[in-house]
Parts: sequence; structure tokens; C-alpha cells
Amino acid sequence: MLTRRQFLKLGAQFSAVAGAALVLPQISLAERVGGGAPEHTLMNRPFTVPLPIPRVLEPVRQDETTDYYEMTMRAGQKAIVAGARTPIWGFEGEFPGPTIVARSGRQVVVRQTNALDVPVTVHLHGGIVPPSSDGMPMDQILPGMSREYTYPNKQPAATLWYHDHAMDETGLHCYMGLCGFYLIHDEVEDALPLPKGEYDVPLAITDRAFNADGSFNYPAIEGDTLMHGAMGDTILVNGQRQPRLAVANRKYRFRILNASNARPYAFALSSGAAMTQVGGDGGLLPAPVEREVIRLDAAERAEVVIDFSAYAIGTRVVLTNLLGTGELSKVMCFDVVREEADDSSVPSVLRPIERIDPATAVMERNFEFGFDEANGLWTINGKSYDHHRIDAQPVHGTTEIWRISNGASHSDHTGPFNPAYDHSHPFHLHGIFFQVLDRNGQRPPEWEMGWKDTVSVGSQEAVRILVRFDGYTGTYMFHCHKLEHEDRGMMGHFEVVTNEGDHGPHH
Ligand code: C2O
Ligand code: CU
Repeated sequence: MLTRRQFLKLGAQFSAVAGAALVLPQISLAERVGGGAPEHTLMNRPFTVPLPIPRVLEPVRQDETTDYYEMTMRAGQKAIVAGARTPIWGFEGEFPGPTIVARSGRQVVVRQTNALDVPVTVHLHGGIVPPSSDGMPMDQILPGMSREYTYPNKQPAATLWYHDHAMDETGLHCYMGLCGFYLIHDEVEDALPLPKGEYDVPLAITDRAFNADGSFNYPAIEGDTLMHGAMGDTILVNGQRQPRLAVANRKYRFRILNASNARPYAFALSSGAAMTQVGGDGGLLPAPVEREVIRLDAAERAEVVIDFSAYAIGTRVVLTNLLGTGELSKVMCFDVVREEADDSSVPSVLRPIERIDPATAVMERNFEFGFDEANGLWTINGKSYDHHRIDAQPVHGTTEIWRISNGASHSDHTGPFNPAYDHSHPFHLHGIFFQVLDRNGQRPPEWEMGWKDTVSVGSQEAVRILVRFDGYTGTYMFHCHKLEHEDRGMMGHFEVVTNEGDHGPHH
């Protein structure tokens, strides 16, 4: 399954981030978190279910400036495993929820109704939105209630997603299915000859475990789950296990989102061919990057172009996960079934990005991610989440360097070091995009040079990011996006404050 080149690439990718002590990934270690066959016996044969593509939600109303949407979060059922119905919670009862397609510069208002019997919130991940629409954990929509979220979309084209963010329960709620895509398009993207329309396909990757009756088996947050987050033994793409997409022999653009609670992936093609990465969390990269292996930690996105013209009709190309074995190594397949003309291409310049000059930073803050053994809580600077506490007050318009360090030693648990599992903390900031300055003192690779909202910080790593607080003022979250770490304390607040004569929101 793993070509030698992919193996070396994977090693190189990790050694760039993990320093000299790197042991090449022990793929078999995945078994510690369920790398064998799924425990239940209800599975369909792999690569038989067509890839579902979440439907695009229609606005209920439009005016000069705004598209208005309505969604209801409710319980539903989904055929995922053979002969059973899996109870889910979904936006509109669907998992993933319907996709919202937005236009940069045009506002979206979503009225969310909670028809579940638990309090929820809705967060637009990657959205530059005022705090009142950010869906913070305490800003709950109680059962039977509704809330309107306003998304200004004053930001460039990007693959965003929305998901529940309820206090202490985000892991469970997302696992039950409360997530969906939110795509922003703009003129810069329109003008590029990248694959569009039906050749532009979102892929939400999640892992799930199932009970014998077909229901999701969300584990209690203790032991291994507290350490590594909830990890299932089955990978779903857009809510189906190992689906199949019939493709023409041409280029496609895929927006890969790691919507898993905690599991990181290293994606590769079974053919060994490279994928062309054109975008990340914050949209288009300055230039395309050829990658044979693409690692995504929880909540990260990669937009890639895959060119199927290299394959004969009848070829099957499997999207693999190099961090898994067996079931967990096969994500989905592409079957090249027909010939088609292709007028798309990947230009050598996508969207220039202004690098933030570190010399403009007014201060450097340290955030040490750790674990409080005594209380079984994840911590930032020794403290677990307290919704009354503000951890940083950056001044609007200024730039800061934030240093996120992960002191977990490689040997905190049994087994050889595996950078994929050993307490990586995908660090996420709400309300703003940032740039990665360095990782253990080294300049980040090209694919991390775009705008990011989530960055993976592995064991024994320190990642420094540059943040220019030029979005809205007010209070936002920062946290680890391993949802079970987040739900067990690894979350804080920052408040963007104004100087005199400087009033937000600003754009
Ligand atoms: Cu994707 Cu605070 O979350
Ligand atoms: Cu974490």
C-alpha cells in the first residue's frame, strides 16, 4: 500500500517538524487506536457506496446585501452500515449538514433552530465574524429555541465549516454529526482556471466507531480517549464509509476537511502520484505545491487538484491514509470511468499573500499546552478553561507572536514515538487567520505559508504564529481542536481591545 517514496516523504514531512529524534512512523501503531477490522460485522463492502456530496442549501430569502438561511438541528437516521440505521444529530437532520455557498463581500444570516434536547451552539470555523455570532460555548441555543448568526464574509475565498461548540459536549455533538461545509467564493478564485462546478468536490473526513446495532459508539472521555481524543475504527467520507467516486480522466479539485474529533491523517494516492495543493485553511496558497503525502490534523483543510488524465479508463485510484492500517488505511476510491475534455489547469500563481513581518510584532506570548495529572484536565499555561478568565488582550490592529509549545514527551505512554498520535495539539484561533512563523525554529514548509486558522503542534514542538488582530474587537476562543482535549479544559479566551480613537468592527 505504501510506496517507498511515500514512506520516505512521510518521514521527511515529520522530520521537518519533529526534529532529530524522529523515528519513522510506525504505521502498525495505529492499531493502538483501532487499526484492524472494525469490531462490528455490519460493514458494506469497501468502495461500493457512491460518494455522497452534501447538497447546497438554498437561501429562504435574499436582498441587496444578504442571503438568509434557516436550518434546524435535529435527530435523524442515516444508512451507513448494512442492515441498520444509524441515529445521528444533524443540521437539517443530515450528516454532514447541507453546504452553504457564500460570496465574499455578501453577508449571510443563518437562523438556527435547536430541535434537539440538548443545548447547542454553532461556530463558523474560519469565519471572521463578530463575537456575537461566533457561537461560543456558553452562548447556547436551548432546546426549542432559535438564534440568528450573521456572517459578514469580508474575507477571501476559502473552505470553511460550521459545527457545534457546546460547553463540554462539543466532542459528542460533533461525533453525532453536527457539522457542515461553508464555502466562500470570490473573484480571484473565479478568474483562475481551476476545476469548477461538479469538478470541485468537498470531502469531509471523519472517523467513527459503531455499536452492534449500527449506532455511533462515542466513548467516555477517560483513559485513552482523554489522552488521544475519540478515535473510531472506521473512516467516513461525507458520512459514508469508503465511498467510491466515478471520475472522468481529467482534473478535479477536492476540498479535504479533517472533520474528525481527534484523528490526524496522512493522505496519499495509491498510485504514488502527487496531488497539487492549491489551498489551505484560509484559502488559496500563493502558488501550487506538489505533495505526495498530505498530513491534516483535526480541523485543518487542504484543497488539492488531482489529475486523473494520467490513468487509463478502468483504473482505480485509492485515497489512502498512511497513518492507518487495514480499514483505517483506505479512505475512498476514485474510479476513472470515462473520457472527457478538460479545459481546467493549475496556474503557477494562485493568490499572492503578504507575509506579516515579524519585526512588526509588539509582543510575544507563550502558551504552553499541557496536562494536569491530578485533575485529569488538559491545560494551557497550567490552567484549564474558565469562562470568566481572559488569557490575553491584544490591541486591535497590532501584530503579536504567539508561541504554542507542547511539552508532552515522546514517552508519555507506552510504545514508540509516533508524531501522528503523540499528543499533537491542533491549535485553533477563532475570529482571525494567522501565519506560521516557525516550528522548532525552522521556517514552515510552503504548504503552511498560507493563511491558517489551525496549526498542528506535535510533541516536543513549539510553533510560533504571527497574528495581526485586524478583525473584530471583543472576546474569542482559542483552543486545541482535539475535541476531547477542548472539552476537558484545553481552551482559553482572548479579547481584542481597542486603543483610543480606534473602534471596531474594522474592515
Ligand atoms: Cu472548529 Cu472553536 O472550533
Ligand atoms: Cu490537544
